[in-house]
Amino acid sequence: MHNNILLLGGSGRLGSNIIKSKLFINIKYPSKKTLNILNKKKIKEFLIKNNIDLILHCAGIARVKECEKNKKNAFRINVDGTKNIVNSIIEIQKKNNKTIKLVFISSDAVYPSVKGNYKENDKLKSYNYYGLTKIKGEKLVKKVKKYIIIRTRFFDKKKIPFNYSATNIYNSGLELSVFVKYMHKLIRRKFCGIINIGGPKISDYKKYKKYKKNLFLFFTTRFRFFRSSSSFLRLFPSSRFS
Ligand SMILES: NC(=O)c1ccc[n+]([C@@H]2O[C@H](COP(=O)([O-])OP(=O)(O)OC[C@H]3O[C@@H](n4cnc5c(N)ncnc54)[C@H](OP(=O)(O)O)[C@@H]3O)[C@@H](O)[C@H]2O)c1
Repeated sequence: MHNNILLLGGSGRLGSNIIKSKLFINIKYPSKKTLNILNKKKIKEFLIKNNIDLILHCAGIARVKECEKNKKNAFRINVDGTKNIVNSIIEIQKKNNKTIKLVFISSDAVYPSVKGNYKENDKLKSYNYYGLTKIKGEKLVKKVKKYIIIRTRFFDKKKIPFNYSATNIYNSGLELSVFVKYMHKLIRRKFCGIINIGGPKISDYKKYKKYKKNLFLFFTTRFRFFRSSSSFLRLFPSSRFS
């Protein structure tokens, strides 16, 4: 396993679940104030000083609406921020001959979202600005020697923020603690490359009702779409391990 792990975005939904899981040992999770991904100099210094060999990059603007509302900021954090991490890793690799593996949390929003059951080598086409920043982020991440790009969708069972949910909107979203376990498994098994991680196709209503008993249902006629990165979890689809 890796000796020293840096978690970026530790205060977020995913980051806090990673910390809570206690699955990752020797993990450092500086706050945004201490280590802002927009500050490349600080990132590089942190990586060297703490002899980091694995980065869990969970920092970013994850809200679709926020990205649409402020595209410039979304680009700055999701793309430029990722570029700073990637360039720091490449410079350390060149100068110190040290390989740092990067785990990037991408999204099912990189797929067009019209048919579902997408495969990793399907053509990417985002249906919103958030997805576009993820496609650009992925391109940058591919420049480092060792990386995992996880295309996914997840939800926090304790924080379901709405009272109504649709019976005819589908996706493959996973409950966060389950996702964190898969993430850990991928890293432990030294997976490298791009992977879709999702559960079976399920309607929003069915998925959330399990955790929020007073949830009401609705059937939307305005939107009938299918957001799904993969209909079933497919771990380790090929021999891309190192
Ligand atoms: N939620 C989903 O369904 C989903 C699906 C697929 C992929 N993802 C991706 O997974 C990652 C985590 O998502 P999430 O739902 O946990 O997001 P979140 O709850 O919004 O957390 C985002 C984290 O990023 C940090 N952050 C923002 N700007 C930063 C900066 N400039 N420097 C350093 N840290 C910064 C935030 O710190 P502060 O709290 O201090 O602002 C926070 O810890 C994101 O990349 C997201 O796009 C999410």
